[in-house]
Amino acid sequence: MGKKVTTLSPFDMTLAAAASDEFWAIAADELDWITPPSKTLDMDNLPFALWFEGGELNTCYNAVDRHVAAGKGGKTALVFDSTMTGTKTSFTYAELQEQVARTAGMIRAQGVKKGDTVIIYMPMIPETVFAMLACARLGAIHSVVFGGFAANELAKRIDDAKPKLLLSASCGLEPARIVEYKPLVDEAIDIASHKPESVVILQRKQHIVALSGSRDEDWAKLLRKAKLADCVKVASSDPLYILYTSGTTGVPKGVVRDNGGHATALLWSMRHVYNVDPSDVYWAASDVGWVVGHSYIVYGPLLLGCTTVLYEGKPVGTPDAAAFWRMIEEYKVSTLFTAPTAIRAIKREDPKAELISNYNLSSLRALFLAGERADPDTVYWSQNALNVPVIDHWWQTELGWPAIATCLGLGEREVRVGSAGRRVPGFIFDCLGPGHNSVGYGESGDIVLKLPLPPGCLKTLWNNDEGYIDSYLKTHPGFYLTGDAGFIDEDGYIHVMSRTDDIINVAGHRLATGAIEQVISAHEDIAECAVVGAPDKTKGEVPMGFIVLNSECDRDHDEIIGETVSKVRNIIGPVAAFKKAYVVTKLPKTRSGKILRGNIKNIVHEESFSVPPTIEDASALDVIRKAIA
Ligand code: COA
Ligand code: AMP
Repeated sequence: MGKKVTTLSPFDMTLAAAASDEFWAIAADELDWITPPSKTLDMDNLPFALWFEGGELNTCYNAVDRHVAAGKGGKTALVFDSTMTGTKTSFTYAELQEQVARTAGMIRAQGVKKGDTVIIYMPMIPETVFAMLACARLGAIHSVVFGGFAANELAKRIDDAKPKLLLSASCGLEPARIVEYKPLVDEAIDIASHKPESVVILQRKQHIVALSGSRDEDWAKLLRKAKLADCVKVASSDPLYILYTSGTTGVPKGVVRDNGGHATALLWSMRHVYNVDPSDVYWAASDVGWVVGHSYIVYGPLLLGCTTVLYEGKPVGTPDAAAFWRMIEEYKVSTLFTAPTAIRAIKREDPKAELISNYNLSSLRALFLAGERADPDTVYWSQNALNVPVIDHWWQTELGWPAIATCLGLGEREVRVGSAGRRVPGFIFDCLGPGHNSVGYGESGDIVLKLPLPPGCLKTLWNNDEGYIDSYLKTHPGFYLTGDAGFIDEDGYIHVMSRTDDIINVAGHRLATGAIEQVISAHEDIAECAVVGAPDKTKGEVPMGFIVLNSECDRDHDEIIGETVSKVRNIIGPVAAFKKAYVVTKLPKTRSGKILRGNIKNIVHEESFSVPPTIEDASALDVIRKAIA
């Protein structure tokens, strides 16, 4: 690869494997601390371990200002390319500092101070990045809500995060439509019990909205009046952001990230997992609404001081399947990070990767894939098309940065297709079976992480320590439960095969089938339903519903199915991609009444399975088979 690679000595690796204090103290030293930590890892209050106790810093300062202070103000920090509007702009670190400081001034003028929460419900535009960093600058806690969620999901997050301020834009842009955010914001605030004090709307010229009522403010007007705000000192353990992710119920979990651990881990990962240095251009083709966007569009690359790319567009159709290749050539991208689903979408349109030959991709050194299992076909196709290492790697919203990978920056090279790689230093994996015992190499079990987790992982759930313990720490004492199942082979390669709960992965987006079922079951003609993930060539999985109607209902089935599809779209959001359902006469259940979703999934995936002895009525399995036949 022609790059300098840092290789940890075996001693360092031992330290790292033990999640040692010394290892992370050295990593934390790369940051600018206002007050250096007095203790690297405080375990006095387990299970709530605190990283870099006594340390004070500002994450925005480390991501922006310190590069300017180091004389790198003229370096490009952020490149923005919107295929939706044809806009191309970039910001140097000095320009980013000015934009962020002014946005922080605007937010502060709305009464937001350290420790307050701010919801950001915005599209993929530079102002969204400014807003996130501006909150960090003030010590305010941002919570970005993905634009593909509908009003009801936004309302749940408003009620949980209780924001003082909500930042939004007049619209998002999807290929076939304008996403009008303002009505969604208004509806969400109507639904929510908590009401933000103000709502600041950025008008995009593609769709200008009327601002009404005392709560609404115009972003541009406020920004013109805003003073530049300085960085506020925060404790290492103070929350930087809350990011909601699907739980197994309809209630999203508010993952809380700290400042010091997060900045340390992300900076370390940029060099050692991704092998990126400050002269590089790093592009995570994701959305700032997801953890990938938080960690690797915004914080990671900026903490390192390299150039990050913000892309408003899709891998295909905007305008074609060469969109990614054009971006790599135009911005000399050295590292691309995307979800396998994006590659599958490109592959479907350009199976022989012919469009690539029109572009100069010589800057590209590696492609990283995450968000869902990288299926072998996708990996091989990418390797052949791009001729660079294709690295599957695994992590979760909760963890904040990769836990399984092939760490290019540590000199690791060998990939095993089908495995997401080996454990990243700091993470200690095990695979547990009944009785909390480790299963053997190659045997399936619950994939768990030994506590304490390294820096950068979730601190707790927002206002819900009990929920954090219940969801993640209770099943296997002493371990964090990832919710994934799989196996570890003799060489330490970890193969993540499936979820152990009702979470499905739709185009790299994590969704709870329980939340979809809750929406469908609320339909007045529906007695009960089950939703499982069905295989999909591009999206990996899509939700599929099986619906039992109330006995007295004689309405047209297609009409009812259509109503459930629009309900899910309107209540959860288009991102759920719920389009397919069947009306059935019964669902397979155990004698105690538990729906056998696992077996429905087996049928939908055409997997063989043994009929559970506890089944109440085995003929219900045939009902499912017939429905999808
Ligand atoms: N705001 C509003 N709506 C959004 C949205 C947003 N930010 N993002 C997606 N949607 C809508 C889409 O318009 C689509 O609506 P539709 O049903 O009207 O077509 C729906 O949500 C599903 O979107 P998506 O999952 O993006 O599917 P798609 O068919 O538009 O595109 C891919 C398919 C594969 C191209 C796309 O899913 C993709 O690029 N995925 C990458 C995944 C990713 O970045 N994952 C993050 C982890 S790395
Ligand atoms: P999210 O929190 O949205 O990032 O989703 C995390 C979940 O996505 C994980 O728990 C896995 O189920 C799945 N996932 C993410 N990356 C991978 C990967 N590389 N291989 C297999 N599954 C993955």
